[in-house]
Amino acid sequence: MLNSRLDLLTDYPFDRLRDLLDGTAPPPGVAPLALSIGEPQHTPPAMIAEAVAANAHLWNKYPPPPGTPGLRAAIVGWLRRRFGLDALALDPDRHVVPVAGTREALYMIATLAVDPEAAGPRPVVLMPNPGYHVYAGSGFMSGAEVRFLDTGPDTGFLPDLDAIPEADLARAALFYLCSPANPQGTVADRAYLRRAVELARRFDFLLAMDECYADIYTGEAPISALNVCQDLGGDLDNVAVFHSLSKRSSAPGLRSGFVAGCPKVMAKLKLLRSYGGATIPMPIMAASEALWNDDAHAAENRALYAEKFDLAARILQGRHGAYRPGGGFFLWLDVGDGEAAAKRLWTEAALRVLPGAYLARADGAGNNPGAPYIRVALVYDPATTEDALHRLARTL
Ligand SMILES: Cc1ncc(COP(=O)(O)O)c(C=O)c1O
Repeated sequence: MLNSRLDLLTDYPFDRLRDLLDGTAPPPGVAPLALSIGEPQHTPPAMIAEAVAANAHLWNKYPPPPGTPGLRAAIVGWLRRRFGLDALALDPDRHVVPVAGTREALYMIATLAVDPEAAGPRPVVLMPNPGYHVYAGSGFMSGAEVRFLDTGPDTGFLPDLDAIPEADLARAALFYLCSPANPQGTVADRAYLRRAVELARRFDFLLAMDECYADIYTGEAPISALNVCQDLGGDLDNVAVFHSLSKRSSAPGLRSGFVAGCPKVMAKLKLLRSYGGATIPMPIMAASEALWNDDAHAAENRALYAEKFDLAARILQGRHGAYRPGGGFFLWLDVGDGEAAAKRLWTEAALRVLPGAYLARADGAGNNPGAPYIRVALVYDPATTEDALHRLARTL
C-alpha cells in the first residue's frame, strides 16, 4: 500500500540522536542545552509581533499561493541590496516565489526537476556529503539516483566539482549545493559558483543553491549564485537560490522564505505549490515583508554570532580543529568519534550535540565522512553559549 521509497528515509538526524541518547541521562543539577538543532534562540525582532497584530484582520483570508506583491517586492529589494544585483533585471512576478520555509521548497524542487518518465538511465541528484538531510530525502522520493559527493578538509569542505564523473553530470537533473555550508560553514567563492553554474548549463540540470545562512557571516559577506548569473550576462537559466528568515531573522517558527531564479522553474514551482504547497498566512506575509525590508536587525543578529565565535576561539583555542567558519552558526569539530563524543557531552555535561555521521551517508565500504565530527549549533545568547563552550572544552 505504501510507497516503497519511504523505506529509504532512514537518516533523520534528530531521530538518530534520540536513539543514541535513549536510556542515558544528563548529570543531575546541570541545565541541559540543545546545541544539536540549528534553531536560533535570539529574541525575534519586535516587528514580527507588530506586523502580525496590525494584520490580524486578514486571518480570514486565503493567502494567494504566489505571495503578496508587497512581499515579492521586498524580497527583490533585499536581493538587490544584499548582493549588489543592480544589473540583474529581477522581476518580482517571474523570478521570485515566497515559500513557507525553505525546507518544503528544497523538498519540492526535486519533484519538479526530476523527470521519472525520461528515456534512458535514471536521473541523478547530486548533493554534498555531509549535507542537509532534506536533499537526500527529496532525491530518493523523486525516484532519482542520489549521488553523495564526499567533502572534507581535502576538498575545502565543498564538493570537488572536477571530481564528479562526466557520466553523472550527463544524467544529473538536480544538484544541491549549500553556501555557507551546513554543517561546515564553508563559503563558496565566485570561481566555484561560476563553475557550478556553468556545469548546470552545459549539462542542463538545475542548480539548487541553498543560501539560507547567507546573512550570518563574520568576514566578507558571502555572495550568491545570482551574482554569477549577473556576471555571465543576466540569464537566470538552470539556477534557483533558496533563502529563509529562519536564520537571518532568528524566526524559525515564522516559516517564511523564498526561492528565486530561473523563470521557467519559478512558473512550475508556483503551479506545483498551488496543488501541494503550504501557503503563508497573510499576517505572516506582512511580517516577512517588514523583515526583508529591514537590514538593521540582521546586522544585530550577525554581531551576536560574531561575539559567540570570538568566545569559541578563546575557549577552544583551536582544539579539535576548531575554526571560525566563513558563514553560518555551527562549530564543526573533529573529535575522532562523533557519536562517542555526543554521548559523553550529554551524560557528563548535559550538552546535546549532533554526531557528524548523522549528517552524512556512508559509502559501500562503510566510510562516513562525517563520522569524526560533531556539529555544535551556537544558537543561544552569548552568556549561555559561553557556559556551554566551557562545559564542552572541559569534557572533551
Ligand atoms: C542548510 C539548511 N537549509 C534549509 C534549512 C531549512 O530552513 P527553513 O525551512 O527554516 O527555511 C535549514 C534548517 O536548518 C538548513 O540548515
